[in-house]
Amino acid sequence: MRFVRIGALVGLVLLVVLQFVPGDAELTEGPSTALIVGPSAVVRILEASCLDCHSNQTSWPLYSYIAPASWLVTADVAGGRSRLNFSEWEELRLGFQKRFSRKVVERIEADEMPPWQYRLGHWGASITQEELEVLRAWRDELNAE
Ligand code: HEC
Repeated sequence: MRFVRIGALVGLVLLVVLQFVPGDAELTEGPSTALIVGPSAVVRILEASCLDCHSNQTSWPLYSYIAPASWLVTADVAGGRSRLNFSEWEELRLGFQKRFSRKVVERIEADEMPPWQYRLGHWGASITQEELEVLRAWRDELNAE
């Protein structure tokens, strides 16, 4: 019994200490720059499933403030923002917008986005077949220009 209590105490102390180890990204909203402008259906899909990691407007869940979960979440957001940030979309040259629109559809088709760990905590974030069609139409229109 005594060991259990000591173990619990050590665990508790460790958890407190962990809180002082920072993650990859700050839990910030980031600079509020122009969010992607596009058909409202497209923007709505991105908002519901992608923008937590691919924009500066992350809505941080409560567990993202507690290490070690915070490290995983901030790593995902830092990784997502660094590769594709819809808050900077309007500054991208058309060629990049075209390419990223293709990648968006590809990564969803491959069932890689949104990542599975995100879907665990965000029911309804998965892209439905209907939503995929909307994104495909957006990609096709953009790439036809
Ligand atoms: C939990 C955070 C998270 C969410 C939510 C998320 N992504 Fe990502 N995304 C990442 C990370 C991290 C990477 C970089 C690692 C990789 O490529 O797998 C990435 C990479 C990508 C890339 C590749 C960019 C490149 O330069 O190759 C695309 C495209 C993408 N995501 C699209 C999406 C779309 C579309 C959604 C919504 C349906 C989405 N992501 C949702 C975290 C996320």
